[in-house]
Amino acid sequence: MAYSVPKLADYSPAALDQAVRELLSAVRQEAEAARTENDWKVFRDRWMARKNGLLTQVNDLWLKAAPGPAKRNVGARVNQIRTEVEQAVDSAQQRVSGSASAGRLELERIDITLPGIRRPLGAEHPVLRTMNEIVSVFRAMGYSVAEGPEIETDYLNFEALNFPPNHPARDTQDTIFVAGQEKKPQRDRLLLRTHTSPVQIRAMMATPPPIRVVVPGKVHRADTADATHSPIFHQVEGLAVDTNITFCDLKGTLDHAMKSLFGSDVKTRFFPSFFPFTEPSADVSITCFKCGGKGCRLCKMSGWIELLGCGMVDPNVFNFVQGNGYDARKVSGFAFGMGVERITMLKYGIDDIQLFYQGDVRFLEQFA
Ligand code: DAH
Repeated sequence: MAYSVPKLADYSPAALDQAVRELLSAVRQEAEAARTENDWKVFRDRWMARKNGLLTQVNDLWLKAAPGPAKRNVGARVNQIRTEVEQAVDSAQQRVSGSASAGRLELERIDITLPGIRRPLGAEHPVLRTMNEIVSVFRAMGYSVAEGPEIETDYLNFEALNFPPNHPARDTQDTIFVAGQEKKPQRDRLLLRTHTSPVQIRAMMATPPPIRVVVPGKVHRADTADATHSPIFHQVEGLAVDTNITFCDLKGTLDHAMKSLFGSDVKTRFFPSFFPFTEPSADVSITCFKCGGKGCRLCKMSGWIELLGCGMVDPNVFNFVQGNGYDARKVSGFAFGMGVERITMLKYGIDDIQLFYQGDVRFLEQFA
């Protein structure tokens, strides 16, 4: 039976004591029984509600009803009751909310000894890393950077670079053509660029001389994939045009670039070659940075490693630019082009170009 406040017939101290004891034991029991926030609210309101709460009833039934001589005594006890009830309500609240937050803590518990989720660190792909390195070597010499489209016209990829239609030099770059263009004039036909050299023409058409530009990019050839070939690979092209540019400038520039890329000990050697868009043309070799030139497997016992093509811009190429200040009688320039995969393979001792494209993390994470 829930406690209810009795009417008092007897206001003797002993009877009062008894009534107070019963009330306090009821309040303590009810306080202890409260488990949840909600229990506690019901308990609080039952005792403390202004309107008809048990304390109010005590006031009405005991104090107000007390005969004059007993009032003082009853008043003191009612005050004591009020204090004790307030305390019981407070401490019940603390206990209830304490166990609620303990429950929440338990729910939100984390085991900080568990290993976390590791986010693997990404890294620049080795080909891009080398490409950026090459570009920054030339940027430091005042070159700007340009890019061109991978789908290019026959005109810019070949003709303007002095590869006439049907010229055998075209055969050195097995070309992938876009299908269904037979009706177009040959120079307008689209192909996947076989080298970054067409951007030489694009750069000159966009910017009058002097110009110094490097062109990183992807190129495509109808090559069968093997350890040293890939139908898609990367090149960095370079072009410098100004008044009085000589082969000495070309040699000095590339010698400096090769020393920056492979170490200051390497020496460069230029020997005659042929490219339609440069005259004279050269292939550049560096002393083998592995054996220092003595001869080893890397350099096939020759002491030299062939790295890139270059030459003085052929006057015909300036004529193809059609104006913009590229008058072959007034300006001269040099150009060069290098394969990024090949340089990366040499720098890091990688013996299969296909590793670059397979996306095997065991290979790639060596560069992280
Ligand atoms: N475009 C040539 C190739 O892909 C490379 C090259 C050689 C670029 C000589 C040049 C150069 O700019 O002067 O084989």
